[in-house]
Amino acid sequence: MGRPSMEIPVFIATITGNAEMIAEDVADAIEDDVTWELSNMDDSTYDALQEHELVLIVSSTYGVGDVPDNGLDTYERLVEEKPDLSGLRYGAIGLGDSTYADSFAFGGRKWDDTLSSLGATRVGELLILDASSTDDPTDVAVAWAKAWVDELKS
Ligand SMILES: Cc1cc2nc3c(=O)[nH]c(=O)nc-3n(C[C@H](O)[C@H](O)[C@H](O)COP(=O)(O)O)c2cc1C
Repeated sequence: MGRPSMEIPVFIATITGNAEMIAEDVADAIEDDVTWELSNMDDSTYDALQEHELVLIVSSTYGVGDVPDNGLDTYERLVEEKPDLSGLRYGAIGLGDSTYADSFAFGGRKWDDTLSSLGATRVGELLILDASSTDDPTDVAVAWAKAWVDELKS
């Protein structure tokens, strides 16, 4: 019998699907010992963050440094209601475009800052994916996620 697979809920905030694509690429590339549960954020994500012990957040940035609409309800409730998330470990991937110099990747940074301020523990560094970079975002994200999963297991 092998080790039981680690279940990792992935909550995605996206407008045009890049964040979802990155989450899917990570899930396809890393299958050993891990079961990824992908979902787009919605009104239920607020409760889910309090029920889980481990999550991966993948969020792009819209407007001027805003969280995408499908994550906004959860984000605003976290800020206003300040639930205790000290039982939660998380990783975060933020997508943005460095041409938005004053609000670059603020979506991902807002999740990271807010979850930390509510007592959650980030595992690994916040990964920022820049749409203006020539690096392949899938390659960068998969390499980061492999290291992240290794850190979770250690
Ligand atoms: C209207 C609009 C506003 C944006 N605002 C920002 C921003 O403030 N900061 C940033 O880093 N990226 C910004 N972006 C870039 C997106 O975050 C980036 O293209 C991302 O890859 C989109 O991912 P998604 O398809 O998952 O939503 C903006 C893009 C658009 C179209």
